Amino acid sequence: MKKRVFSGIQPSEVIHIGNYIGAVRRWVELQNDPEKENIFCVVDLHALTVRQEPEKLRERTMELMALFIAVGLDPEKSLLFLQSHVSVNAEGAWLLNCVTPEAWLKKMTQYKDKSAKQEIVLTGLFDYPVLMAADILFYDTDEVPVGEDQKQHVELARNIAERFNHHYGETFIVPEPVIGKVGARIMGLDDPTAKMSKSSAHIKGHAIRLLDEPKDIEKSIMRAVTDSGSDIRFSKEPEKAGVNNLLSIYQALTKKSAEEVERDFANARGYGDLKKAVAQVVIAETAPIRERHAELMKDRGELTRIINMGTEKARAISEPRLTDVKRKMGLIV
Ligand code: TYM
Repeated sequence: MKKRVFSGIQPSEVIHIGNYIGAVRRWVELQNDPEKENIFCVVDLHALTVRQEPEKLRERTMELMALFIAVGLDPEKSLLFLQSHVSVNAEGAWLLNCVTPEAWLKKMTQYKDKSAKQEIVLTGLFDYPVLMAADILFYDTDEVPVGEDQKQHVELARNIAERFNHHYGETFIVPEPVIGKVGARIMGLDDPTAKMSKSSAHIKGHAIRLLDEPKDIEKSIMRAVTDSGSDIRFSKEPEKAGVNNLLSIYQALTKKSAEEVERDFANARGYGDLKKAVAQVVIAETAPIRERHAELMKDRGELTRIINMGTEKARAISEPRLTDVKRKMGLIV
């Protein structure tokens, strides 16, 4: 039996190199694994958990679907779909709300961080992990490839599955989070003690966005915060966080071992050389993606066709599970 893989990404901002290394690029590898059956979702309902400008959200959603294809996801090989087009996800979230203790959601660190930054915290932001659990559970998912920051949410989905199974009988598969060994937590270039995040992507020098032009990528990397030394090695020491982050980006994109990476920089003359090399590998990886993306955005009709095809397939997978859950919970189906 093939393992079913499910993962998603929000169209809240243009995606950055952290999203790419921590998640999307690994999805492309999974697509070529004959042991996996993959589902990847643009989670537009999740984007609504903070206020969005409607027209911008629509545009970014299309852009993200085009980006899926530009990075190499193939709608014939992987199921690509838009969360809001399949009502099972939102309806399933309601049903799961009714088995999820509020106390579990209060413990979510991402909620604590995000809500601290908002003047008005929307109920949707609090409930976001339950919607994510519905995404995962109603598709009978075995594995969830995500970056480190989403691990707690996948663990919550596991707890919800177990609780439901305990109350209503064996129903949901208890999914496994799958976190990459390299680059599971890419840090901000302007502050290597904080994770690179979409919500800060508009801040100059914070993120490398996947669709940035080569000269902007180079500028951001050359400006990246490092330390006053010149030692180029992987390190967990707080003052080496900037160098460590640049090396992680380099390692993830070149797929070299840590030793090979350090050897590449054994004769470097300071951090300038390191930054130039990192910029080079990032540009080599992203430039073709940017070009393909620009082409794909010209044909909205084709993107709509791909979205509609995904909607049909996603409904066919998730609707039987929704009916099953409703019946078990006592609804007339
Ligand atoms: P989102 O859109 O914030 O992020 C998408 C993916 O990128 C990873 N990621 C990172 N990886 C490494 N370094 C970083 N700095 C970094 N920042 C983000 C995230 O871990 C994620 O894998 N709620 C989810 C989307 C979602 C989902 C799902 C995921 C909704 N339903 C079901 C899996 C399964 C989110 O907002 O991800």
